[in-house]
Amino acid sequence: MGWSRRLHTRQTTFRQLEIFMTVAEYSSVTLAAKALHLAQPTVSTQISKLAEALECQLFELVSKKLYLTETGQEVLTATRALFDVMDNLEMCLAARSGLSLGRLRISVVTTAKYLIPNLLGEFCKTFPNIEPEFQIGNRAEIIQRLKQNMDDIYVFSNPPRELNITTDFLTKNPLVVIAKHDHALKAKKCIAWSELLNERLLMRENGSGTRYAIEAFFKERGIKMQNPITIASNEAIKESVMAGLGIAIISRHALNHMAPGNIIELAVENFPIPNSWYWVSPKGKHISTAAMAFREHVTKVLASETKRGRG
Ligand code: PGA
Repeated sequence: MGWSRRLHTRQTTFRQLEIFMTVAEYSSVTLAAKALHLAQPTVSTQISKLAEALECQLFELVSKKLYLTETGQEVLTATRALFDVMDNLEMCLAARSGLSLGRLRISVVTTAKYLIPNLLGEFCKTFPNIEPEFQIGNRAEIIQRLKQNMDDIYVFSNPPRELNITTDFLTKNPLVVIAKHDHALKAKKCIAWSELLNERLLMRENGSGTRYAIEAFFKERGIKMQNPITIASNEAIKESVMAGLGIAIISRHALNHMAPGNIIELAVENFPIPNSWYWVSPKGKHISTAAMAFREHVTKVLASETKRGRG
């Protein structure tokens, strides 16, 4: 490739790359146009211009669905890395001029949605120029985002240790057995799991980290799970337990936002399952200034809550 043909000399703009990244994220020109407040033809034109400049096909339409081509996927990975560098540069420059500015993209597993939003709210009051982008998903969904390097911070309670990542302890996330408030064993201490075998167990979906932790816990103890009913959200599980559909094992933090008395925690032997949340990032990823500041803020708040006995 001659010098004049090198990538950076071609007619590619950051705006085109940003549009490309958004289309890839939504797998749709229409949704991307909406998110970017642009007309649909403008988005299509910019994608065509980018493809022309890079001399490759970025997307393909299969059965009316838009997919990234293999090359498109490579362009996406490089684009995200490029935007990370630019975001960091923006924050460094802002820090030099005494401002705190920039984007903070956070992805957390669903149980952490009971923890992170409050902390983020307080953080944003201190740093009003930071623009947070907050995503919630089950473990499998957040793993996908991590693999694609989509965010600055990830919170997992069961980090995918098979990937090349670094993990740092955030705080504890014990998993407890819950039942309707009038459950027959509500007053009993040290219930054996065998006493619950006639109960219907309500479990999160495959791909959920909560389910992953429960399955590992049962496997370790040789406990067979009695035909669980799958319910794909913590909220729906709580509603179903309240309605008397069965018992469940969920994060104790998921109980904090409920009217007291509707659901009780059963004192089952070997419970709670000792789970924890972790900050996770791909090994070698530069942690942005905003992400670092947020992590420090969370650590400080949780430490002071523990001191006051709320942790
Ligand atoms: P999840 O979240 O069950 O929604 O995946 C909790 C976790 O990953 O442990």
